[in-house]
Order: sequence, then C-alpha cells, then structure tokens
Amino acid sequence: MIAAKDKIMTNTSLPGPARDEVQAHRGASAIAPENTIAAFRAAADQGAKWVELDVALSADGELIVIHDDSVDRTSTGSGSLGDLTAEQIGQLDGGSWFDSRFAGERIPTLAEVIKALGEFGLNINVEIKQHKHHQSLDQLVNAVHAAISKRPAHMQIMISSFDPECLKAMHKLAPELELAMLWGRVPDNWEALLADIPATSIHAHYKGLCIGLLEQTSAKGIKVRAWTSNDPIELVSFWGAGLTGVITDNPKIFLG
Ligand code: G3P
Ligand code: MG
Repeated sequence: MIAAKDKIMTNTSLPGPARDEVQAHRGASAIAPENTIAAFRAAADQGAKWVELDVALSADGELIVIHDDSVDRTSTGSGSLGDLTAEQIGQLDGGSWFDSRFAGERIPTLAEVIKALGEFGLNINVEIKQHKHHQSLDQLVNAVHAAISKRPAHMQIMISSFDPECLKAMHKLAPELELAMLWGRVPDNWEALLADIPATSIHAHYKGLCIGLLEQTSAKGIKVRAWTSNDPIELVSFWGAGLTGVITDNPKIFLG
C-alpha cells in the first residue's frame, strides 16, 4: 500500500496516487493523437513519469506503437498491420485524424519511441498486443526484448498484456521486469493465475475493481493499477484500500 506521505492530492483536491503511479494511456491521448511522439511529449509536459503504449508487429516483423490491428482508425491510410511494412506505416499521417494541428505526426516504431522517451525522461509500460496476424509468440516477445534492451539506463520498463502467454515468455527472457496482467474484471482465481506467470501486478478496468479485492491484493503485495480513468471521483474510494496507480488519458487531472 502507498504510504500516506507518498500520496498526492489530485487537482480536484481528491486523494490520488503517488506521482510516479500516474501512467499516460497511449500518451496524453485526451489532448494529442494516441500512441504518437506528440502524445508522449504532452504527457511529459503535464508532469507524468510513465506512459502506457501498445505494440504489435508489422508485416516485416517490426514493432509498431499502435493500438488496433489496422491503421484505419488512427491514420489517413488504411490496411491491416499484417499487410503493411514498417516503412509503409511510417509514411502515413497518424495525427490529422485527431486534429489538423497534428498533421504529419507519424505512427512510430517502438525503437523510435524508446529513443524519444529517453530524451523526455519518461518510463514505459509496454502493452504487448496479440493480434491474429502474428505468426509466432517467440517472434513477438523477442522483438520486444531486443527493443527494450537498447533503452537508456535511466529508463524503467514494465510489460503488460491481456495474454498471459506473452507475460510468461517475457518472464523467461527478462525475469527482472515487472509484469502486469491485464483484465477487464479480475477473476476470482487471480492469485493462482499471477503465480503461474509469474506476475506481481494487475491492471484492471476501474469498473471491475472493488474495495475487498484491493484489500486482498495489497495484503499479498500485488500492485493494482486502474484503467482507463479520466475522472478522479471514479477512484476516490480505492486509494485507501490499496489501489497502486492509474492509467489515464489525461494525466494532469491526477497529478495535482
Ligand atoms: O493498459 C491498459 C489499457 O491500455 C488496456 O486497454 O484497449 O486501451 O489497450 P487498451
Ligand atoms: Mg493499452
């Protein structure tokens, strides 16, 4: 549980998490196009220490920072990741769909993001997406491991995924990393499922949390972060019960 001295007040004067437990969801995606360098820069400008981002493989096996399995929603282009090379994806406009001010913003690779975020002083929660076009779990996790191995020494990394197999494979490659299991609603047998990976953190939809669960997880030393909350009132009763952190589109509302 977070000690009272480490807690901050949100900018609504409600209780909130420690500053380094506010993660910008896909960057500060409320004010800039998700999963772009602009969104990560905005998160840093708001005072966030961590960003959450999504990664998946292109047709030629490069790790792309993107949420969906196609570029349709978040660019001016179209097509599935499994049919597009990293070079083709890199030529798309990934910003003007959000606002014309972001025209020309690119859909980045994980390598590009790690370089930029090292300069911004941000840490990264890498959410590994498992899509149908991925041919091999090994290819996916090896690519993640290779990319994060080139991070600057000061950058912290954690890995999250809805797929426990991704987390198990990452644990074999890098047992020192914090691993977070993603769930909408946390299943009753969470403790056994975490031990099987093994993972020490749960990232759960905030509507799937309750005080009883948080008291159990905090008693076991398991960290729990809530996604995706954009209103401090939604979480106000959870901090005292042991909620660790929040993943939000708008970090400034939790940063006091
Ligand atoms: O990591 C929390 C959150 O990002 C999981 O859902 O769909 O936004 O990647 P999604
Ligand atoms: Mg995500």
